[in-house]
Amino acid sequence: MSIGIGIIGLGWISQKIHLPFFTNNSDIDFVGVFDIDDFKVNEVKKNFKINQVFNTYDSLIKCKKINIVVIATPNHLHQTQINEAIINNKYVFSEKPLCINGLELENLKALESHLGNLFPLLPSRYTQEVNKVKELIGTIGDIYKVKGTWNRGNGIPTSSWFTNKNKSGGGVLIDLGSHIIDVIFYLLDFPDILNSNSFLSNNFLNQNEKKANWHESNTDKKNTRISDSVEDNAQVFLKSRDMSIYIDLSWASVRKYDESTFEIHGTKGSIIMKTLFGFSRNRYLDNSTIVYEVDQKEEIVIQMKNNNPSSYYFEMLENNLAKVKRKESNIDYVKNAFKTIDIIDRLYTNQNLGINEEVYYV
Ligand SMILES: NC(=O)c1ccc[n+]([C@@H]2O[C@H](COP(=O)([O-])OP(=O)(O)OC[C@H]3O[C@@H](n4cnc5c(N)ncnc54)[C@H](O)[C@@H]3O)[C@@H](O)[C@H]2O)c1
Repeated sequence: MSIGIGIIGLGWISQKIHLPFFTNNSDIDFVGVFDIDDFKVNEVKKNFKINQVFNTYDSLIKCKKINIVVIATPNHLHQTQINEAIINNKYVFSEKPLCINGLELENLKALESHLGNLFPLLPSRYTQEVNKVKELIGTIGDIYKVKGTWNRGNGIPTSSWFTNKNKSGGGVLIDLGSHIIDVIFYLLDFPDILNSNSFLSNNFLNQNEKKANWHESNTDKKNTRISDSVEDNAQVFLKSRDMSIYIDLSWASVRKYDESTFEIHGTKGSIIMKTLFGFSRNRYLDNSTIVYEVDQKEEIVIQMKNNNPSSYYFEMLENNLAKVKRKESNIDYVKNAFKTIDIIDRLYTNQNLGINEEVYYV
């Protein structure tokens, strides 16, 4: 099968991941691109082997040489761009979040039979340590308590749309939460969530030194003012029938280093995992560590070399390409990804309306 790729949005993630991956892949025989920013287009033309630059999104999704559309634009554009590409019979690899609110989620669900052609890009699920935890989790009995964190010291994304709620859908909860909630749900086999609550706060947004120095985006160079319409810290409490889930997220804090952790406690044992997802360079761990204990026997410490984010991202893209080549539906993955979006929407809606679903103790 000859595969043509159309990439929309040529910012940081496209230049870091999508363009290097697709322009160096022997399965791909055509790469077309579109961005509204001429500076980005020229930069990409200079640095990558591009077959065609399109002048509109419409012309890109109608191009017969393109089978897969990669969406890497600001969040508020994803849902309409996904819908347009899919109804033009394209496969769609879309950056997270697939959409930014419940109404948009309904618009995606309306795609029904087309949804098997949608590939949400959630690379953290492909890390070796998450899959090691997935392998061990069945041995620790009934799980009753889970904690997941992703905390950064100075990690506010630089493009100004990230901190404009109308364009991003929210702050750290929708940005890093899209990954962490997805990984937790994946590890726990997607439990039904009965209650959800959050505490969202904005503490560091107007401090320039709290921006992510590794997110070298050129977008909005002239417009670097950070608005204060989103949260930079989020604590989330979820309750299913049998377990509590606590999630702690920060784009910025007074900590020097960044870390992602999971603690999973069951009736027979526990798993504690420390790593760092994403592209931040503020790492103090050379290795990812999993501490695994069952039946109060000696704890087992598993060390793994820290992930190179490009490698597990590329693995996910390879996996998606293989599915496209086999013409295999991705519908189960999509339905699971919808569960994370639904929870994030519920948390923001409750916060806006001042609703506490239920008070309970973790
Ligand atoms: N999966 C991950 O690990 C991961 C990591 C980083 C970013 N992302 C996601 O990728 C997306 C892009 O993030 P980024 O950091 O690259 O942002 P960015 O600001 O660097 O890039 C966005 C690009 O979209 C372009 N754009 C804006 N409006 C457009 C339009 N109407 N049509 C075409 N192009 C348009 C901009 O000019 C810019 O080049 C976001 O949704 C983000 O959440 C995912």
